[in-house]
Amino acid sequence: EKLTLVGIAGSLRSASLNRALLRALQAALPARIALRIHPLDEVPLYNQEIDIDPAPIGVAALRQAIAAADGLVLASPEYNNGMSGVLKNALDWASRPYAAPCLKSKPTLVMSASPGMAGGVRSHVQIVTTLLAAGARLTPGPHVAVGSARDKFTDGALTDEPTREFMLAAVNRLAAEIVRLRAAG
Ligand code: FNR
Repeated sequence: EKLTLVGIAGSLRSASLNRALLRALQAALPARIALRIHPLDEVPLYNQEIDIDPAPIGVAALRQAIAAADGLVLASPEYNNGMSGVLKNALDWASRPYAAPCLKSKPTLVMSASPGMAGGVRSHVQIVTTLLAAGARLTPGPHVAVGSARDKFTDGALTDEPTREFMLAAVNRLAAEIVRLRAAG
């Protein structure tokens, strides 16, 4: 069964470790799973006054990318023990319109990468809380936190095999969840 995933990095910087992690995942996936990385550069700061129909173009594109995908993979920096404002902003947009948000029932995997030892895992509680508020479905089993991430990439390419394997195992659980939900109708 073919699956399409959308990957969102919660960092705008070009040398982002989190985007590099998504790219590494993209390259490692089996042929039946496609991952498209959707950038957040064009997503404005949330303002309920502009959350109207038609939505701002960057918001419409974000919502459509999530809606069209079978599953979502987030890769967030940890900023002060939480997620980045960039990612929170995107998730807030994706949690609306209230009646039918694109995040609703969306199978989702949380990843983070940090130069620190804990790999950004302290951001996961906040991300999971936000995802649950929007009705997303969390991937069963451990999510992915990549510590000492600067040592695991060379020129943006992942060099650490255990990280790749751990990430692939998590995505396999995400894919299984998608298939299970599909079968359940
Ligand atoms: C950080 N960083 C950081 N790292 C961490 O492990 N725990 C933390 O709480 C924080 N807090 C924090 C706050 C702010 C404002 C900044 C700018 C940075 C470091 C962060 O993990 C590092 O900059 C990563 O490289 C950011 O992710 P990208 O941009 O590489 O994807």
